[in-house]
Amino acid sequence: MSPYRTTTASPVLAGTGLRKSYGLTRALAGVDVSVSAGESLAIMGPSGSGKSTLLHCLAGIERPDEGQVLLAGERVDQLGEPERSELRRTRFGFVFQSGQLLPELPADENVALPLMLGGVPRRQAVRKAREWFPVLGLSGKEERRPGELSGGQAQRVAIARALVGDPQVIFADEPTGALDQTTGMEVMGLLADITHRQGAALVVVTHDENVAHWCDRTVRVRDGRLTEDDRTRAAEAAGVAAWHTPGQPVGHDADARYDR
Ligand SMILES: Nc1ncnc2c1ncn2[C@@H]1O[C@H](COP(=O)(O)OP(=O)(O)O)[C@@H](O)[C@H]1O
Ligand SMILES: [Mg+2]
Repeated sequence: MSPYRTTTASPVLAGTGLRKSYGLTRALAGVDVSVSAGESLAIMGPSGSGKSTLLHCLAGIERPDEGQVLLAGERVDQLGEPERSELRRTRFGFVFQSGQLLPELPADENVALPLMLGGVPRRQAVRKAREWFPVLGLSGKEERRPGELSGGQAQRVAIARALVGDPQVIFADEPTGALDQTTGMEVMGLLADITHRQGAALVVVTHDENVAHWCDRTVRVRDGRLTEDDRTRAAEAAGVAAWHTPGQPVGHDADARYDR
């Protein structure tokens, strides 16, 4: 079992009763979901089912029409845009499908950017950024521009940028969507392992089962509703709410991914 697994009695991030419409399109129709520190959660579902909208609401990018989002017990959804922007910069990290790096900046400055935006002097920010390069297998790539990196390398730079500010939650929306299967699995393995080691929560939106396999838990979205939660399913199979007891197996071995 993972030493980081914690009960959902005190999730680091929790959305309850989330609803969101765009005009007549109902993107979220009442979703409850939570994730704990050190836990990785995959949000799966077909295109247009509301996955990105759910991620955006949880991450304070958008405000839900109804429902609450709590980060370590604090309401996120009620904050105004400047406060949510600050929160995103200081407590969250983001990895998107592609195109998130600034093409004119070298890799190390791309990674350092969130720190510099927070007022850390450039030299210090770049030094801290460079510490992540060996961790992500990017030694020697510090001064490359994004255009001089492969797709997998660029995504690893994006992961470093998401991690550099020591966030509580990393959000990834189709992080392997622009990569071939092999590279995608390498990138996803790094993302899952490092966030886990950092003790951060990871929320990954994907339509790829292979990506979800790297996560401790999977929920499925359909027409703006959660249809399945494999933690619930595992507990039902065990006949008890096993995840309420710290240290008890939940029927889903989080360490199984290391066997791959
Ligand atoms: N900014 C927006 N304006 C209008 N409609 C949107 C917007 N964002 C998402 N939608 C709609 O909401 C639904 C859910 O979208 P989304 O959350 O992006 O799904 P997914 O990420 O699962 O593909 C879709 O019908 C989509 O067209
Ligand atoms: Mg999407």
